[in-house]
Amino acid sequence: MSQDIDVTMSEDRLFPPVQEFVDKAHIKSREEYDAMYKESIEDPEAFWGRIAECFTWTKKWDRVRNWDNAPVAKWFDGAKLNITENSLDRHVAEGRGDKVAIYWEGEPGDSEVITYSDLLERVSKAANTFKKLGVGKGDRVAIYLPMIPELAVTVLACARIGAVHTVIFGGFSAPSLVDRINDCSAKLVVTSDGGYRRGKVLDLKAIVDEALENTPCIEHCLVVKRTNNEITMKDGRDVYWCEQHEGVSSNCPAEEMDSQDPLFILYTSGSTGKPKGIQHSTGGYMVGTATTTKYIFDLKEDDVYWCTADVGWITGHSYFAYGPTLNCATQVMYEGAPNFPDCDRFWDVIEKYKVSIFYTAPTAIRAFMKWGDEFVDKHDISSLRLLGTVGEPINPEAWMWYHKKIGAKKCPIVDTWWQTETGGVMIAPLPGVTATRPGCATMPFFGVDAAIVDEKGNEVPTGKGGLLVVKQPWPSMLTNVYGDTERYKEVYWSRFEEQGYYLAGDGAVKDENGYITILGRIDDVINVSGHRLSTMELESVLVAHGLVAEAAVVGYEHDIKGEGIAAFITASNNVDQSPDNRDLLKKYVAKEIGPFARPDQVHFTDALPKTRSGKIMRRLLKDIAAGKELKQDLTTIEDVAALHKLVEKVQAELS
Ligand code: WTA
Repeated sequence: MSQDIDVTMSEDRLFPPVQEFVDKAHIKSREEYDAMYKESIEDPEAFWGRIAECFTWTKKWDRVRNWDNAPVAKWFDGAKLNITENSLDRHVAEGRGDKVAIYWEGEPGDSEVITYSDLLERVSKAANTFKKLGVGKGDRVAIYLPMIPELAVTVLACARIGAVHTVIFGGFSAPSLVDRINDCSAKLVVTSDGGYRRGKVLDLKAIVDEALENTPCIEHCLVVKRTNNEITMKDGRDVYWCEQHEGVSSNCPAEEMDSQDPLFILYTSGSTGKPKGIQHSTGGYMVGTATTTKYIFDLKEDDVYWCTADVGWITGHSYFAYGPTLNCATQVMYEGAPNFPDCDRFWDVIEKYKVSIFYTAPTAIRAFMKWGDEFVDKHDISSLRLLGTVGEPINPEAWMWYHKKIGAKKCPIVDTWWQTETGGVMIAPLPGVTATRPGCATMPFFGVDAAIVDEKGNEVPTGKGGLLVVKQPWPSMLTNVYGDTERYKEVYWSRFEEQGYYLAGDGAVKDENGYITILGRIDDVINVSGHRLSTMELESVLVAHGLVAEAAVVGYEHDIKGEGIAAFITASNNVDQSPDNRDLLKKYVAKEIGPFARPDQVHFTDALPKTRSGKIMRRLLKDIAAGKELKQDLTTIEDVAALHKLVEKVQAELS
């Protein structure tokens, strides 16, 4: 496929870090980075073993890295620990209990300040409450909560007792909850009555109720009161968080876990119809996320760090719940939308808490740009010293705006490439070292043996696009696909089985400085506002609807979301192809998967453009949806007349 990967970007502006930043950075020079990187690749056991010494283990490892059974890696093989002893107890024991762990900001304007001592107490109480509800080591707990303190508490409380959490983003609908809960046979689901979003109450409990009709594994539903909207509670199954916490001890000894024990499962879309439960282990994930947090965000004792990602995604796991707490960071957690009550809410929060490190998604940056500079100008955001982006490629225009308008040209921007599977950042600038380039993720992090290869696994020359692979295991890597080791091997390791390379699923290109630019997915995964969606999954949902005979879903260039979703439908017999029915299909997808998966465009067509061999020409559909002129060779298409008709129709529908 690498011959299909075109490299069209030519961006050569370079922005070295300002001296003031370099002077105080953890890593200050290219020489330092090179030496550390070299050791991390050539002697990973010495490198990671030394770093791991700084953590609390109840038993040390026998081997830092055991790759004998590749591609199943064992990091810190033989070690015992509990991750929460590292993210909570350790800091309190060191006398940092009064340090603020979380400044929580609710959407309506309410707020809470939670210190590390408070957090330890709340986590311990919740852990005891979960135990009371019959949850123990190895049990799975589904979490469907808004961005409120109880979400952080629940995640860490699961880890405290060795229960495996699976957080399900609040934008998923009931059928998506059912799939995930049943796949991992969760016993407990933790939710709330509702959550605030853009001033409205999202009725989370009602969605859970609908899901729980089809999840026989669930024994209890624990409900946090947040919005006080009316809900129904099912006797014997549903219980209130506050009532269950009454009289519960705030002392909960941490369960001793094996380094390989699963810490959590997080479902993500792949190129098939069924989401995969990406499983992460305990020891390797801890060391990996803590280390990337420290160096990539150049985190220091007095920083106020804010990662805007929802805990429903991997970014909220690694760079909110775990990485920063492992570093005893002070962080901001915000419940709601960036444009409530107005489009300056983020800048208001930054000013209020004097945020120094700000990590967000390109889609948000594009939205801020569109809303206008005046919203930024209302606030003093001079506390910022470092900016980050994650989730999708950032277009140079948005990067430049972020650099000038938010970063005042002095904050390094770390464009971090990674995945749910990698657990932690893999490719990103080191802020005190790397001269950044708009739209470029730049250098591999320590221990990341990244390469860009062709079909056969041979490295491609500089400047040529290819498949991004990782040649050696790294600490925070996924350890399995839940309950399906074959799928784990097949999806990530089979393509380059001989070489033993991890296939990331992204295309990339390296320049003469060794800088890596990510070119986007090479499979049928689309990236909408930084959220991964599988076109196959969307198509299988659509064809299950009575109106639809056949469906092809593609991502197309979208100003704000990065990619928009366009669905092309051939209708069942006698179906009315009206705007109403197009709308109905949009709503249906939102209902089946979740509001964030709602297609931006639905078009009926007499025939999908296919080659004579029957392959849907997706690139063509992408261009049609983006309103671009078709430059492809159309001679191989089966029904050109239908295609011309479709193009006209789409143009009319979009105008
Ligand atoms: C994309 C999010 C370009 C990529 C942490 C990857 C990026 C997928 C970047 C993983 C970036 C993530 N530049 N593309 N800085 N970061 N991606 O699992 O296609 O939600 O494979 O993890 O997002 O998405 P996921």
